[in-house]
Amino acid sequence: MKPKIYITRKIPEVIYDQLTEFATVRMWEEEETPVPRELLLQEVRDIEGLFCLLTETIDEEVIQQAPKLKIISNMAVGFNNIDVTYANKQGVIVTNTPGVLTETTADLTFALMMATARRIVEASDYLRKGDWKTWSPMQLTGRDIYGATLGIIGMGRIGQALARRAKGFGMDILYYNRSRKNEIEKKLGVEYCEFESLLQQADFISLLLPYSPEVHHLIGEKEFKQMKKTAILINTARGGIVDESALYHALKNGEIWAAGLDVFEKEPIDLDSPLLSLPNVVTLPHIGSASEATRLKMAEIAANNIIQVLKGGQPITPVKI
Ligand code: DGY
Repeated sequence: MKPKIYITRKIPEVIYDQLTEFATVRMWEEEETPVPRELLLQEVRDIEGLFCLLTETIDEEVIQQAPKLKIISNMAVGFNNIDVTYANKQGVIVTNTPGVLTETTADLTFALMMATARRIVEASDYLRKGDWKTWSPMQLTGRDIYGATLGIIGMGRIGQALARRAKGFGMDILYYNRSRKNEIEKKLGVEYCEFESLLQQADFISLLLPYSPEVHHLIGEKEFKQMKKTAILINTARGGIVDESALYHALKNGEIWAAGLDVFEKEPIDLDSPLLSLPNVVTLPHIGSASEATRLKMAEIAANNIIQVLKGGQPITPVKI
């Protein structure tokens, strides 16, 4: 008898075919809407493998509904949507997709730095609205990336990939991480810095740490007051790390200069969010890892983790907490 798998969103056909060769697969066929919670709770009842995304909350309730479940395979590097402790207690393996999205996410992070510093979206809108009447000396002037100080909070794989890009742009790089990384400092020429000192010195602050309740609203009112008035905040990690209401006030009151956001406290962000009314914010719909090649690799790893585990082998990329 083939094992049963549920997939919570339409995935690339080639990966779907790979899974159907080995298992009986059911899938939520929609691309634009997540599987309704009630349906998810029904679908997991008889499955051994769950292929899910960061949009599904896989908590005690879901896991309890799935007595045969052996593996929860998240197609993401982040896994804050899953109660890993509870899953492991029930003997369920949790896996993620680290490594393959590092460079793509670092590219997008750098793109947000450039877009905010040089006001790319605002300038493009200015032209399309017909506001461009002439060339003027200080029109749409932004901030230089070359020679600026980048502060990276979270020096994991993506932080290091961002540092390599920043070096090429002639930036000075500070980082803060829960543990100091001496080897990386030597290899990449980056300097360790205490959290508060980084906030005070950096021209760009890039958040690249995993989300956990301990870092909820790590960046809030107090932290914005410590930043330079010209600072640019970039968040390509998880929305909950930043207090969005404090961010709005900091941007509105000129406590910082701009922000580039790929992630939000609530996703999708409400269209009436005050943040979307500000010209000095560039907002993206959580597309950090969204290159065709990378998303395919992520889906492939997520599928292979399920296949390995349901064949009785070891997962390729288990989540370790
Ligand atoms: C992740 O993998 O955690 C990203 O947020 C989506 O690629």
